[in-house]
Amino acid sequence: MVSRVIPVDPFDLVIFGGTGDLARRKILPGLFRRFCAGQMPDESRIIGAARSEIDDDGYRAMVRESIREFGGVSEEQEASIDDFLGRIGYEQVDATGEAGWEALAARMTEDRVRAFYFSVGPSLFGALAERLHSYGMASAKARIVVEKPFGHDLGSARALNATLAQHFDEEQIYRIDHYLGKETVQNLMAVRFGNTLFEPLWNAQYVDHIQITVAETVGVGGRGGYYDKSGAMRDMVQNHLMQLLCLIAMEPPARFEPNAVRDEKLKVIRALDPVDPHHIVRGQYDAVGSEPSYRTDVEAPRSTTESFVAMRVHVSNWRWAGTPFYLRTGKKLRGRASEIAVVFKDAPHSIFGVDKGRHANVLSIRLQPNEGMTLDVTIKEPGPGGMRLVEVPLDMTFADALGPDAEAVPDAYERLIMDVIRGNQTLFMRGDEVEAAWAWTDPIIEGWQSRGDVPKLYDVGSSGPEDALMLMHRDGRKWREIRA
Ligand code: BG6
Repeated sequence: MVSRVIPVDPFDLVIFGGTGDLARRKILPGLFRRFCAGQMPDESRIIGAARSEIDDDGYRAMVRESIREFGGVSEEQEASIDDFLGRIGYEQVDATGEAGWEALAARMTEDRVRAFYFSVGPSLFGALAERLHSYGMASAKARIVVEKPFGHDLGSARALNATLAQHFDEEQIYRIDHYLGKETVQNLMAVRFGNTLFEPLWNAQYVDHIQITVAETVGVGGRGGYYDKSGAMRDMVQNHLMQLLCLIAMEPPARFEPNAVRDEKLKVIRALDPVDPHHIVRGQYDAVGSEPSYRTDVEAPRSTTESFVAMRVHVSNWRWAGTPFYLRTGKKLRGRASEIAVVFKDAPHSIFGVDKGRHANVLSIRLQPNEGMTLDVTIKEPGPGGMRLVEVPLDMTFADALGPDAEAVPDAYERLIMDVIRGNQTLFMRGDEVEAAWAWTDPIIEGWQSRGDVPKLYDVGSSGPEDALMLMHRDGRKWREIRA
């Protein structure tokens, strides 16, 4: 099998916030890897735009450094850096003033796709959109890319959508959720809709429950200021976990086409029941040995922000009535593991005698690390002495199954940026989807605030607070283990 790289048409890409963390860690190294893969035509231009007083050469030096630090560059690729830098330029612009905008506009090539990546805080989205328009850059082939957080509640998300809509059509707005760019997340759709095996069983009649876990070992890093105002609910659940839930629960779209997929995802969000406060556990990590607590990390000794959430969610429609979805995410847990597990019901009757045939099939899809799928099936335990049953995994790691092709897979940002250039919105969130997700999230957060809820503490390196285990135990179920 050979990976196919389909070159895109020449483009101009402007990165607002071009000297920032996301640009240096993800966007620029990702673009370089696409360049090395032969996907970026020679005439394409990448222009960093920010407040810093540097020129083209100063920016190129920064880009070179970022690629070396974060690009995972091989010796062979190292030789291409200069070539890549030949496509890079820089313009000093004032996002809220007028300085630099004429010069930026002068750098645009007529009649080609131009993408504007807003790698800046949402408070600047409106000012940027307005200036792109007033300086004549918002052509029919222009598109803007916006990062999360897309608002902090329904009201702010609506206001952002309205501001962007003043200058750009929905077809020109690409709201990034980088989870949708992950290879295995797209594999969820391939597995569900590319096989006949699973879909007939993918409903409340056969599925006991579904678990979605995104466990991280990292803490809040240097982002304490942002994170403490956000918490795991806004930072992870409202977007990434919600998207995973949608892909797992949605009806088959008629086509793998942007609005067909997004219509189905939206229906899932709208079918979510409000969450009973007894079905949510919030947690905050606590110091263990030399490992600091969350409060120390964010330098807020009284913070009641959650770094962990576990919850039971119901999708109230014909397919899922009665099948709970358990969601869990947290920082500083014992392992890094993102996984979706579909736990099927027990066989309806045991021909082997009581207890001997009661083994549930579990399909688990590992998003990261060690991307792959495992299906637990029941077989006979070998040997004489009667029929004893044992569960064994049918285990597939994509790297083994796909060989070198799996390694050549672009990371989430690389793929999503190329989709922007191609004009494919399938893996981006539509405005109504984001609003629906906030409409569901807001009452949960408001409930915490009005009750003065304080998160339960959990040890750094654990699986989260005890209450999260109880959430499942009460239902006679068990979380899957988070492996260290
Ligand atoms: C980001 C969150 O969107 O996703 C971070 O803001 C989180 O807090 C990150 O760590 C997780 O992404 P990934 O790709 O490392 O799973």
